[in-house]
Amino acid sequence: MSERRGFASDNHAGVHPEVMDAVLATNAGHANAYGSDPWTSRATQRFREHFGPSAQAFPVFNGTGANVLCLEALTQPWQGIVCARTAHLHVDECGAPERSGRKLLVVDTPDGKVTPDHVAPLLVRIGEEHVVQPRVISIAQSTELGTVYSVDEVRALADWAHAHGMLLHVDGARLCNAAVGQGVSFRELTTDAGVDAVSFGGTKIGLMGAEAVVLLRDEVADGFRFRRKQAMQLASKMRYISAQLDALLSGDLWERSAAHANAMARRLADAVGAIDGVRVTQSVDANAVFAVLDPAATEELQQAWPFYVWDEGTGEVRWMCSWDTTEEDIDTFAADVRAALSRSGPPRP
Ligand SMILES: Cc1ncc(COP(=O)(O)O)c(C=O)c1O
Repeated sequence: MSERRGFASDNHAGVHPEVMDAVLATNAGHANAYGSDPWTSRATQRFREHFGPSAQAFPVFNGTGANVLCLEALTQPWQGIVCARTAHLHVDECGAPERSGRKLLVVDTPDGKVTPDHVAPLLVRIGEEHVVQPRVISIAQSTELGTVYSVDEVRALADWAHAHGMLLHVDGARLCNAAVGQGVSFRELTTDAGVDAVSFGGTKIGLMGAEAVVLLRDEVADGFRFRRKQAMQLASKMRYISAQLDALLSGDLWERSAAHANAMARRLADAVGAIDGVRVTQSVDANAVFAVLDPAATEELQQAWPFYVWDEGTGEVRWMCSWDTTEEDIDTFAADVRAALSRSGPPRP
């Protein structure tokens, strides 16, 4: 039985029909394995078109794999990666970066966004062999809290990182939402702003399961093919992964899907924001809404609607919108929120 369409995760949404069609169209005859196929050539060309001619894209199975591979490529085992305490990297990857021998150095941020001021205090004992040396700043775009970094913020962080002997990685599991939310291209938001490597997300925006490591400088790409194989992220039938990325990036599917998901989040924030007893806690810049409401109302709502409590302590919840969220979903849900709150109490301060 399928789950009701809800707000638990953009991963809960199905595959976009245009992507499914592209996968089916790929399923004819034989093709070379391990990426030596026309679909992979096309997909990697799409990445060059979107990120600039220096972009080297490597399709992979999942986002954790993309993150770990990017970070390995950017560091030596004695170097550390600075990220927000809320980073997926830190809280939702079961220690995969640490398993690959890379220490995460976490910083507290109110909105999921890392700034140079967060990183600066960590740059101590540089050159001392007893201490992990900070080498990469990893930011999520959009962040795990649904906020985004502007082009200027990314550039400031990249410039600061480079001036301090560091590199900038973007976990772009929701890069489409972040770019569309600001009306900028991938290139403006990454390559031209000084980003060194990107984990490009496709699955959350309607692919069946396809992500890519996008390396934006030759120096960090050295030996990457071998790294991907060692990390078990080299697909033999890569054509099916590449066809999904090609379908997303060859036309405007990425823009349409992200614009829709973002618009649904905006509609939801406006609707619930007008309800007494709901406090929207983060800027709604992409496809997520964070809010605090009475846990009794949350519990009642969860009987009918899939979504997650983000913070048990504060009663904060996360509502994610997807390429397939409808206006009717939003309006029905908002009405249910209003009804549930009328039976419970005001939000916690
Ligand atoms: C910010 C972020 N990064 C990366 C990922 C990728 O994770 P996965 O390994 O499940 O594809 C996710 C998925 O939830 C995410 O939210």
